[in-house]
Amino acid sequence: MQALSILDTVGNTPLVKLQNISPNPEVEIYVKLEFMNPSGSVKDRIVKHIIEDAEKTGQLKPGATIVENTSGNTGAATAMIAAIKGYKAILTMPDKVSLEKQNALKALGAEIVVCPTSAGPHDPDHYVNTARRIASEIPNSFMINQYDNKKNPEAHYLSTGPEIWQQTNGEVTHYVASGSTGGSISGVGKYLKEQNPDIKIVMPDPFGSIYYDYFKTGKIIEQGACTYHVEGVGEDHIAKAMDFTVVDKMYQFNDSNAFTMARKLARTEGIFAGGTGGANVWGAVQLAKEIKGKAIIVTLIPDNGVKYMTKIFNDQWLSENNIVAD
Ligand SMILES: Cc1ncc(COP(=O)(O)O)c(C=O)c1O
Repeated sequence: MQALSILDTVGNTPLVKLQNISPNPEVEIYVKLEFMNPSGSVKDRIVKHIIEDAEKTGQLKPGATIVENTSGNTGAATAMIAAIKGYKAILTMPDKVSLEKQNALKALGAEIVVCPTSAGPHDPDHYVNTARRIASEIPNSFMINQYDNKKNPEAHYLSTGPEIWQQTNGEVTHYVASGSTGGSISGVGKYLKEQNPDIKIVMPDPFGSIYYDYFKTGKIIEQGACTYHVEGVGEDHIAKAMDFTVVDKMYQFNDSNAFTMARKLARTEGIFAGGTGGANVWGAVQLAKEIKGKAIIVTLIPDNGVKYMTKIFNDQWLSENNIVAD
């Protein structure tokens, strides 16, 4: 009998073809079901890679406390891996993170610290600054540091990218992914372009994030916090894990674009995605409308709609927040 640990089930997620959503008969859209990872999101890949590397290099020692700032999914991955490996986990997050995600972290044994979403990147109460302060105060602590850790894109370069290349038999022509740390788009984009430099990498970004303007103008807009409702993509600072040199094109989307597509994915494809899965497929559909000739677009479904039952899939919450989503 093969004695698998929960950690052995990270990665090798299915890639499925959307049957009904592509607006262009010449363009196939494939989605990689990252919610099939054991803690329910794409972030299992990076946290496993970062923790295993830190153990090897001696940065992470027995009995350590792992601290991280997270919109929930990196937290769930950290809490799961800390649980199986016997570390303590303390996780900070903005208060817009859904209650389901917060409670899941507690269920996995982590301590959570909830910070105001309205705190800007220079505010000591910002969730990233709070995590840094906590780590500096606790002896034998280790930060995953997902925003600036080069092991984050490396995890995708070593796993997600090769999987997509193999699962499409090298026929992928476009890769679409919105980003926060940028780890997934940067690592996958680098790997795919090394296999075939003609592959185009496309990034949808929420209105309010600074990434789109930075990509277009090279300038960082100092204009406050990311108050849109999509959780886990777009940024108010430039993460070091984000490599814009692999990005060919960007789109801007709003909550309604992302949530309408997440709901449509559930109803017409049977794929229960979170908001960023909706945003990614929305981006793939914009791209498919523009493409002339045959193309194979791959995008990610980073996490599962179950995590957003009180938000994206709750009509009352949508109307209270003035979000139109069919
Ligand atoms: C739900 C969700 N989608 C997408 C992403 C973006 O992934 P990355 O940080 O690799 O850019 C995140 C990251 O936090 C996320 O939580």
